[in-house]
Amino acid sequence: MTTVTFLAAPGGVPRGRIRAPGDKSISHRAIMLGSLAEGVTTIDGFLEGEDCLATLRAFRAMGVRIDGPDRGRVTVHGVGLHGLRAPAGPLDMGNSGTSMRLMAGILAGQAFDAVLTGDASLTQRPMRRVTKPLALMGARIDSTEQGTAPLRIHGGQRLVGIDYRLPMASAQVKSCLLLAGLYAEGTTRVTEPAPTRDHTERMLEGFGYPLRREGARVVALTRGGRLTGTTIDVPTDISSAAFFLVGASITPGADLLLEHVGVNPTRTGVIGILQLMGADIELRNRRLAGGEPVADLRVRHAPLRGIRIPETLVPLAIDEFPALFIAAACAEGETVLTGAEELRVKESDRIQVMADGLTALGVVAEPTPDGIVIRGGVLSGGTVDSHGDHRVAMSFAMAAPRAGGPITIRDCANVNTSFPGFVTLARNVGLTIQERTTT
Ligand code: S3P
Repeated sequence: MTTVTFLAAPGGVPRGRIRAPGDKSISHRAIMLGSLAEGVTTIDGFLEGEDCLATLRAFRAMGVRIDGPDRGRVTVHGVGLHGLRAPAGPLDMGNSGTSMRLMAGILAGQAFDAVLTGDASLTQRPMRRVTKPLALMGARIDSTEQGTAPLRIHGGQRLVGIDYRLPMASAQVKSCLLLAGLYAEGTTRVTEPAPTRDHTERMLEGFGYPLRREGARVVALTRGGRLTGTTIDVPTDISSAAFFLVGASITPGADLLLEHVGVNPTRTGVIGILQLMGADIELRNRRLAGGEPVADLRVRHAPLRGIRIPETLVPLAIDEFPALFIAAACAEGETVLTGAEELRVKESDRIQVMADGLTALGVVAEPTPDGIVIRGGVLSGGTVDSHGDHRVAMSFAMAAPRAGGPITIRDCANVNTSFPGFVTLARNVGLTIQERTTT
């Protein structure tokens, strides 16, 4: 097994221009909808990370011809809603919750059986949140006794649309049900407790499938529409840009321009939270790219202060909390997060794993059941364990410029799931970071 360790040293000052890789959520959906469409879909800016490649391979395994990726260009030869074929074996979703949960919705509507599996982290993550509502629609899915993967999804079931109130704010569950809804008799209607990322909705519309949005929290679709191949320009991922927003905000002298970042309002919680803390972030050259809002973000160092994070911003920044905890550790005063229990069931328990890492660096960080309290202060050097969580690894790398000594970050191989080339890009803008690989 390959292990990757990051060695991040103090002294670097992030400066210059940077283009982060493509958006992970949008890249997954582009492969999925492109495969189910009639005709050809051309994707530019596709994220060539392991998570999205797992989705791409799964559709290839179901008979879809997909050319690329070649420098971000992928061409999907859609087979139509009913053109997928039974895969020869289990579909391995690796570390990717998005692949597994969204594909569960698509596979529930197929004529064939399929098995979805994944790595040690993914097979521990809760899947009842999708298998339960899918069963209400008429799907037959076997899971482990704990409700985890592998999931065996039985084909040939008659699905019926439901009116479902999500118990948690989750774009993955919403998207899963909308995708199953493409195959369900009548109308599938989903109500969220709070708005979450709406890339599935935007992209369905981009492929010409009619949707009904009723306010910010309700969406419905009816079987019988068609998806037509299209072109998709994937913006860069604000969740990847977030590491640099934090790294530049906390480092005196920093001045970065992050180019072509997706600023869909269901994703910009990280900007809102950092601005409440006093960050200097400017959105420039706002435009639309393939139905998604995009901007260039200029971020300069600014003294940050601790805040009570508004719960309304939590679903809009759900992947950015590891990075935000580093900002909190460098801020003056206390930062309090509540209403974020979802962080405990991400690629790792991000509340506990981040609290442990911050504590190892001398920061006072107290986990609570649904959040954390972080007292800003001085970071020392030390060793932290990312527990295989890509976002934890990159967050601690960004803390190094403000640390009193080098930070060693263990178990970083999964950075490739969402941000291939992270270390090179970080070095290019002035961070002092090395990667050590042992096999
Ligand atoms: C995602 C939704 C979020 C997010 C994940 C990607 C998506 O998960 O954490 O990284 O692409 O729909 P939840 O919807 O489960 O919160």
